[in-house]
Amino acid sequence: MIFPVTVYGDPVLRRVAEPIKPDYPGFDEFLESFWETMYHADGVGLAAPQVGRSIRLFVVDTSALAKEDPSLKSFRKVFINPEILEYAGDPWVMEEGCLSLPEIRENVSRPDSIRIRYQDENFEPHEDTFTGYPARVIQHEYDHLQGKLFVDYLSPLKRKILRGRLMAITKGKVTPHYQIRVPA
Ligand code: NI
Repeated sequence: MIFPVTVYGDPVLRRVAEPIKPDYPGFDEFLESFWETMYHADGVGLAAPQVGRSIRLFVVDTSALAKEDPSLKSFRKVFINPEILEYAGDPWVMEEGCLSLPEIRENVSRPDSIRIRYQDENFEPHEDTFTGYPARVIQHEYDHLQGKLFVDYLSPLKRKILRGRLMAITKGKVTPHYQIRVPA
């Protein structure tokens, strides 16, 4: 099942998501549909609030970028109850987009490296360090669990320029190729 994607203006995207336990109802089916939703929308990452669930879960699959960087080919992971323990390394700028902000792409500066504690899809605990592009996607998705969006990093001027387009998204006046859920 493919879920509609929540968009800018939906309060679920501004909430701090709640931890989940292995007995979360319908977990396996949810995760399967969640992956399906991400692939259908051509995302490299997706966080649960983006399908209307305020739970601490996100997925990342960078394999679509393997042409540019072969090391990204097998990076496919589920992050449950994640906690970023440390941000490190020199910040670098990259243009980011977000399925909840269709048609908006802006430069965002983020630290190069993170240390993160999380559980995988079997709720097994891990603590890993990630760098470069995977670390960037993880930071973007992790922000979703904290109620944060990449446009929050932009300058007040830049945000002012974008205001009309952000309002258009909230009103559903955008037509991405995947289904969106417009805020009530
Ligand atoms: Ni996003």
